[in-house]
Amino acid sequence: MIVEQLSLVDFRNYAAADLTLYPGPNVFVGRNGQGKTNLAEAIGYFATLGSHRVSQDAPMVRYGADAAFVRARLGYGERRIQLEAQLNRSGSNKARVNGSPVRTSELPRYAQVVLFAPEDLQIVRGDPSARRRFADQLLIQRMPRLAGVLGDYDRVLKQRTALLKSARARGLRAEQLTTLDVWDEKLVALGTEIILARIRLADDLTQPVRDAYEAIAGADHDPQLEWVSSLAGADPEEDAAGSGGARFGDAEATASVFTAALHAKRAQELERGVTLVGPHRDDLLLRLRGLPVKGYASHGESWSVALSLRLASAQVLRDQLRLGDPIVILDDVFAELDADRRARLAGVVADFEQVIVTAAVETDVPEPLRARTVRVEAGTIVTDADV
Ligand SMILES: Nc1ncnc2c1ncn2[C@@H]1O[C@H](COP(=O)(O)OP(=O)(O)O)[C@@H](O)[C@H]1O
Ligand SMILES: [Mg+2]
Repeated sequence: MIVEQLSLVDFRNYAAADLTLYPGPNVFVGRNGQGKTNLAEAIGYFATLGSHRVSQDAPMVRYGADAAFVRARLGYGERRIQLEAQLNRSGSNKARVNGSPVRTSELPRYAQVVLFAPEDLQIVRGDPSARRRFADQLLIQRMPRLAGVLGDYDRVLKQRTALLKSARARGLRAEQLTTLDVWDEKLVALGTEIILARIRLADDLTQPVRDAYEAIAGADHDPQLEWVSSLAGADPEEDAAGSGGARFGDAEATASVFTAALHAKRAQELERGVTLVGPHRDDLLLRLRGLPVKGYASHGESWSVALSLRLASAQVLRDQLRLGDPIVILDDVFAELDADRRARLAGVVADFEQVIVTAAVETDVPEPLRARTVRVEAGTIVTDADV
């Protein structure tokens, strides 16, 4: 798929902007702080219903405005679809597809975007939550139905944890807390689906990550991805160590390990008022040459792994053929890379239907990607026709 037209009203530093984009590479050039990443963020919003920079939507609404509007015309071969998102400073957001109101959660069914930005270094260097977010966002793009499962899991988790906290306050003992069993069942049913989907995702990403890493770094450092599971007694949230590769078999087998783990931890959970077992405590362990990336890999290697995770995501979505290629966005990447890596990265992304690149310095972007360049200045898009 490609985005052909992007219109913004009161989004970040854009009062109003219209932009035409083309198949193949599109480059946004401008000094820092002019609004290049804001454009990338607006396109990415349709795929993730969020920003890659902030967890709240309010910062995306232009200062002083009550709502931001993002409209995009997407092209899938001969088909065209118009998407619209209205981000409200207060109250819930609104969405339209071809002019008709839809639930906001419908938007990612139409838009697949893989955005790589310097913040992605957090996926490899940050807390387990950053890796879970990476995996879950990709899962939702791959299987939009999972958004509901993940949302339900979060709700059940909150309710179960609230019950643990109130039981703790009342001084109840584990065996007195029979109401917990109902929540355990729901937690296990939803959580098992998430765990299995994540394991499949890690399997499917392994070869594309390996290919992407080798293509970018020019060397095979044997990148590996494996889930470290709280069901197997590990607690990645609290001890960095832990070995990956936990698998429990099919859904039934996983659910029974999950249930047993909850039982084993119940007294401890009551004591602390925390749900200690489940996919919300798991971590995606990334390794290079057998060593964890976090804590061991060099800056350059960490960068290559983060970039490979995104490129592999693009490959996984493309292989699924649901909507054609995802839109690939590379925000501020080229300045970080040496000439060899720049050329290799350009080669890797060249055959995606559409690639959007931002750069402060145009010449940092390899020549083959520079066919269509748009200048961005203080929230204004300056095309050559305007000059
Ligand atoms: N909600 C907002 N309202 C007005 N301006 C904003 C808002 N959010 C960010 N900005 C401005 O947008 C600019 C940053 O844009 P960005 O796209 O990140 O720049 P870059 O071109 O370096 O990628 C900054 O000048 C910032 O002040
Ligand atoms: Mg930027």
